[in-house]
Parts: sequence; structure tokens; C-alpha cells
Amino acid sequence: MKNLKLTLVIAFLAAGMVACSKSDKPAAEGGKASEAAPAGNAIQFVDTQEGKPITIDAALFDTPAAKEFLATGKNPYVGNEEAIAKGKKTFQLYSCTQCHGPEAKGQVGPGLTGPTFRYAKDANNKGMFETIWHGTNGGMGAKGIGLMVPGDNTQGVKPDEVLQVIAWVRSMSNGLTGNE
Ligand code: HEC
Repeated sequence: MKNLKLTLVIAFLAAGMVACSKSDKPAAEGGKASEAAPAGNAIQFVDTQEGKPITIDAALFDTPAAKEFLATGKNPYVGNEEAIAKGKKTFQLYSCTQCHGPEAKGQVGPGLTGPTFRYAKDANNKGMFETIWHGTNGGMGAKGIGLMVPGDNTQGVKPDEVLQVIAWVRSMSNGLTGNE
């Protein structure tokens, strides 16, 4: 009798496990489908100088976060502690600190933490990405790959790094996320 009970319990548990792994499957497949989606419907970037369209090689968006940004214009790294820490390092490495200050509150260049900006579009993450990527006419050099050293695709920050830098800047910005 005791054995029968045990067998029943095991059978019940086993059935439960099968049910679980079955219900996991569609979710995993769904995840894959949405990962593949961005290629078809990328957002259009425009420069900060004149609002003219700029083309950035989609292949440079080579992480899940960068792909999501390319598809939606939202920066998934905002609020992500690991990305924020990396973004802070990149901000120092690429001398952003020299002009914008160690806290991004301004030095030679303007503060980057808002709520008002020289370029209103920088309150939004797509806009700030474009400003960093393509620069301005007023003293802000472009830092994007191939733009910092024109023609050299091995120099400069990659989209994923720009998104981390922006996530760090937003972490200093009193609740402004740029993803609104
Ligand atoms: C040589 C100094 C210098 C460096 C280095 C520099 N910037 Fe700038 N940045 C400026 C100046 C000056 C402006 C104002 C430009 C203007 O008014 O057109 C500016 C503007 C900006 C803006 C727009 C701010 C607004 O209010 O709209 C952002 C964003 C920005 N910089 C981010 C960065 C980041 C990120 C880096 C590092 C990758 C960086 N900058 C490196 C000088 C610099």
C-alpha cells in the first residue's frame, strides 16, 4: 500500500514535469521570433546638425540590447546597473569627462543630465544617441565608429557602448529615463 502511494506520487510529479516542459516550449520559440524581427523594421536615424537621415550599418548593432534599440528606439540599458557601470568607464575612456565633467554635469561642454538640453531631442535616448554618434556643429565631435576617425571602422564607440554611456548619463539625471 505504501509503495503504491509512492508510485502514485512519483507518477504525479513526473506528469507535472512533462506539463511544465511543454508549456515552456512555445515561450522559448516566441523569444527567438522576436529576436529575429529587428532587421525588417529598423528606426530611421537623423543627424543633430540638420535633421538629415543617417545610415548606420545594422551589423554594428550586434548585441540583443543594441538590436532592440535599432527596432524600437528604446534603450534597454537604462536602469541596468552592470551596463551603467560600463557606460561610466566608456565615458572616461573617450574623454567625455574632460568636456562634460566627471558627473556629466558640465565643464567646458554643457551638462548632460537635463531636464533642459541644448538640443531638445537629447531628452530622448534616440536623440542623444544621434548627437553622440554624429556630433554637432557647436564643438561636439562625433564619436561613432568610422566618424571619430573617418573611414576607420575599428575606431570609436559601438552602438552598444553608446547605449551604456547614455544609461549612465540617465542614471545621473533625476529620474529622466529618455525612454518615455
Ligand atoms: C572636446 C570636448 C568634448 C568632448 C570630448 C565630448 N563633448 Fe559632448 N559636447 C561638447 C560641446 C561643446 C557640446 C555642445 C555642442 C553644441 O552646442 O552644439 C557637446 C554636446 C553634447 C551633447 C548634447 C547635449 C545637449 O544639451 O543637447 C551630448 C549628449 C554629448 N555632448 C555627449 C558626449 C559624450 C557621450 C562624449 C564622449 C563620447 C562627449 N560628449 C565628448 C564637447 C565635448
